[in-house]
Amino acid sequence: MSKNIFWRIAQFFEIRWWKNYLSAKEKEDYYSSKKKYWDDVFSMLSDTIDINQKDTILDAGCGPAGIFINFPQNKITAVDPLLDNYEKELNHFSKSDFKNVQFINSPLEEYKSDEKFDFIFCLNVINHVERIGVVIQNLAMSLKDGGKLIFSVDCHHNNLLQKLFSTLKFDVLHPVQLTSPGYKKLFSKQKSLKLKREFIYKNGKIFDYVFFIYDKTGEV
Ligand SMILES: C[S@@+](CC[C@H](N)C(=O)[O-])C[C@H]1O[C@@H](n2cnc3c(N)ncnc32)[C@H](O)[C@@H]1O
Repeated sequence: MSKNIFWRIAQFFEIRWWKNYLSAKEKEDYYSSKKKYWDDVFSMLSDTIDINQKDTILDAGCGPAGIFINFPQNKITAVDPLLDNYEKELNHFSKSDFKNVQFINSPLEEYKSDEKFDFIFCLNVINHVERIGVVIQNLAMSLKDGGKLIFSVDCHHNNLLQKLFSTLKFDVLHPVQLTSPGYKKLFSKQKSLKLKREFIYKNGKIFDYVFFIYDKTGEV
């Protein structure tokens, strides 16, 4: 079990957040609106990524309705340390609804696989993890040469607020608080990953919601 108290608190509140958020939503309505949301995301990414049915996908930190719900024809692995809790505690989520997905109940820090993927998605997750450097390394190792890693995250755009949030820890759901250059600096330690595209999906007062697309080049 993790010794990091902030990560454990974040995960405690994460499952509570999902229970509360889904309590007033019908399963079918929720999944169809989430599919539509992912479709909108993919239309923004369509000039940089093109996914075929034969491509393998890792949904890293998948939650109960990650991008795995939009690719019923692909072979998908979906990893999240709350998967078993989601299945037990949320009426909406059942692993058996997704026959093409192999679900793994694990933090990404402990995820090791011989399989390498064509695409890795890590959406709204990287600011939740306990040891971000280990996670980035595991993601880079799990990607095929020529594959693409897509991650999205809320990024601070004010350095002072970033330091304040980082130190005071009052954003309990998100133990990691960084700016876009802060995330890119950590990713730049993986020499095989080259940033292909970065774009702001949504501007906010404190955070911008940003997408990053990396290519794996095979160089180290
Ligand atoms: C905001 S949810 C995002 C879920 C999904 N990717 C989506 O966009 O709908 C964040 C998820 O990150 C997961 N998470 C937190 N720490 C993690 C870790 N160390 N490894 C993998 N997933 C983690 C949480 O359990 C939670 O399901």
